[in-house]
Amino acid sequence: MGEGYGKTILFGEHFVVYGLPAIAAAIGAKTIAEVERVDKPGVELIDDRPQTPGYKKEKAKEQWESINRILTFCGIDLHDKGVKISLGGDLVAASGIGASAASCVALARALNHEFNLGWSEEKINEAAYEGEKGYHGTPSGIDNTVATFGGVIWFQKRSGQAPNLIEKIKIKHPISIVIGNTGLTSSTSRVISDVRSLKERNPERFEKILQRFQNVVTAARESLIKRDLRRIGELMNENQSLLREIQVSCTELDELVETSLDNGAYGAKLTGTGRGGLMIALTPSRQIQMNVATAIGEKGYTVWSTSIGV
Ligand code: MEV
Repeated sequence: MGEGYGKTILFGEHFVVYGLPAIAAAIGAKTIAEVERVDKPGVELIDDRPQTPGYKKEKAKEQWESINRILTFCGIDLHDKGVKISLGGDLVAASGIGASAASCVALARALNHEFNLGWSEEKINEAAYEGEKGYHGTPSGIDNTVATFGGVIWFQKRSGQAPNLIEKIKIKHPISIVIGNTGLTSSTSRVISDVRSLKERNPERFEKILQRFQNVVTAARESLIKRDLRRIGELMNENQSLLREIQVSCTELDELVETSLDNGAYGAKLTGTGRGGLMIALTPSRQIQMNVATAIGEKGYTVWSTSIGV
């Protein structure tokens, strides 16, 4: 059996693809994978993960590409005998929560266990990164890193052979958040490719956005360590404006952000790919967390109250 955490990106989705640092945190929910050897060659998949309606169907092709990549990385030959892979757990398969990365990590761990591969955590993370490539060709690696190691992570993708920078950020107490689900499944590869076209059309403007984001993420790290919730919230709002500028927000995400801020959240932004998926709001107290969650629920969206840094 193997497990992988769900994640939320606090700062830096998309910008992380261009080598800027990002901050992400694991959430309590996880995907669990079980691998069983069977006589029939090939792969049988039972996917019992809870989902946003339509998610699994939309991602089915990418999921198979991902599973095959992980099996190849593990060097497992399924010509004579096969495997049955069962996916479950309490992480809802939805855009923005790191569902693909969590299942890649869970599968890599389950294969490591079943085939006695003797892998380290770093090797599990590498196998999961291979699997993430099945979902979108050029993942930064942030999702599988958080799904593997958990906690709150400062992550920077390095080019060439240099290993990515991965540092744990220690926060004093858990921070309450609300996650709102637009219910829309987005294609990470499509959104990433649109952002790349935007960059190519206007490189100077994009460079300025990246510079502004660098200031946001640097200040965010300090504020998280100091637990300056007000400042973290302001920085999330600044990050959201930058994400709007690169056109990855959408009407539903904007509505979720506005509803959260109107009901006392200190900050709110999309999290993950955008153009659907999830919104995260920082709620400084239990009462505000309840108010925000209720208001989002009343607008007809699915909502989860949870915390990071547990
Ligand atoms: C997706 O969760 C985050 C993106 O930045 C893609 C990536 O980092 O691979 C949009």
